[in-house]
Amino acid sequence: MYSDLTLTTSTTSYPVIVAAGALADLPARLRSLGLGGTLWLVCDGAVAECYGAPLAARLRDAGFVVQMMSVPPGDASKNVAQLSELHTWMIAGGVERRDTVLALGGGVVGDLAGFAAASILRGIAVVQLPTTLLAMVDAAVGGKTGINHPLGKNMIGAFHQPRMVLADTDTLATLPPHSLREGWAEVIKHGVIRDAGLFADLEALAAQRGWNADHPGGLWDAHDADLTARLTAIIRRAVAVKVEVVGIDEHEQGERITLNYGHTIGHAVEQLSRYAMLHGEAVAVGMHAEARLAQALGMCGADLVARQAALIHAYGLKTALPSHDPDAVIALTMRDKKVHAKKIRWVLPCAIGQVQVRDDVPEALVRQILS
Ligand SMILES: NC(=O)c1ccc[n+]([C@@H]2O[C@H](COP(=O)([O-])OP(=O)(O)OC[C@H]3O[C@@H](n4cnc5c(N)ncnc54)[C@H](O)[C@@H]3O)[C@@H](O)[C@H]2O)c1
Repeated sequence: MYSDLTLTTSTTSYPVIVAAGALADLPARLRSLGLGGTLWLVCDGAVAECYGAPLAARLRDAGFVVQMMSVPPGDASKNVAQLSELHTWMIAGGVERRDTVLALGGGVVGDLAGFAAASILRGIAVVQLPTTLLAMVDAAVGGKTGINHPLGKNMIGAFHQPRMVLADTDTLATLPPHSLREGWAEVIKHGVIRDAGLFADLEALAAQRGWNADHPGGLWDAHDADLTARLTAIIRRAVAVKVEVVGIDEHEQGERITLNYGHTIGHAVEQLSRYAMLHGEAVAVGMHAEARLAQALGMCGADLVARQAALIHAYGLKTALPSHDPDAVIALTMRDKKVHAKKIRWVLPCAIGQVQVRDDVPEALVRQILS
């Protein structure tokens, strides 16, 4: 049996639930939190039929008033026009302050519907119902919401903590393999930055199942109850890391920077690929390069780099840097949001489960790693 996680910040506290079949409990969970009024269910278009419509029916059967709208899949939906469409839908439908937005989908819907909830009537309640691995372990937890601007991703938004996060891991059964795999990069990252036990759990499962670079695993098999139970436990543990970090640093003033491990180089190669590389794929490559940087600085040994690489490969991801010009990568790292007074703040591992923030990494060393 498991217990709910609780995310507590200086201003709020809310449950974070990670369990197979959790969506069945949503009506009772909403009631226990006193969430009522109209439920504005915003669904990713790819999950509207398989999870959205049955969920709406279940909520109506339980006596809730539900309005449902689906949003076209893909990051392009995080725009002003789509946001405005949600606002119009809610205003025309008579939205009230006591209402609740339900965001069912991946990070795209979570960010978009979360921002719609943050901005309508100066803010109404939102419940995050993530259906991708990345959204479960990262995007849905922590209250960052927003949309893209033509001049940059996630440029418009607000911190708006959800009233609950409920992740039903059964929904991962339909997630495309590449999307599931990229999520493992963030799970591995959470192990490296803060939870050596999580890292060991990932290793133990891979060893038991014989997953390695030649025979990668990490895919969902709804018919394998042992596997899905172990993966669900691992996901819950990874979510707990995000819960802890956001609890310490809600508004990204300090500790939350550690979640950016692998992202300084990761974001740069993701952008240079013109987003052909998935975010998690780029983070995996970024973690490997940044671990090598830590090794070159004498912060960790070759064993850490090798263990991390083996785990990344076992869960079906790659570590090799694409052949970009190192100067182009460095130029993009300088535009990273972690740059402070023209110095990059690198999050680098010193042990599995432990990272340090360094702003004194010589550019020549970075170039050497990237070459
Ligand atoms: N707010 C935050 O803190 C935060 C953190 C990380 C990322 N993000 C944002 O999250 C977004 C990426 O999120 P994502 O990776 O979840 O992508 P996504 O929301 O685009 O979902 C990925 C794909 O999976 C499909 N899908 C979703 N759930 C499914 C399911 N259960 N079965 C079948 N298909 C399913 C979607 O239609 C989509 O095509 C980006 O916009 C990023 O900026 C936000």
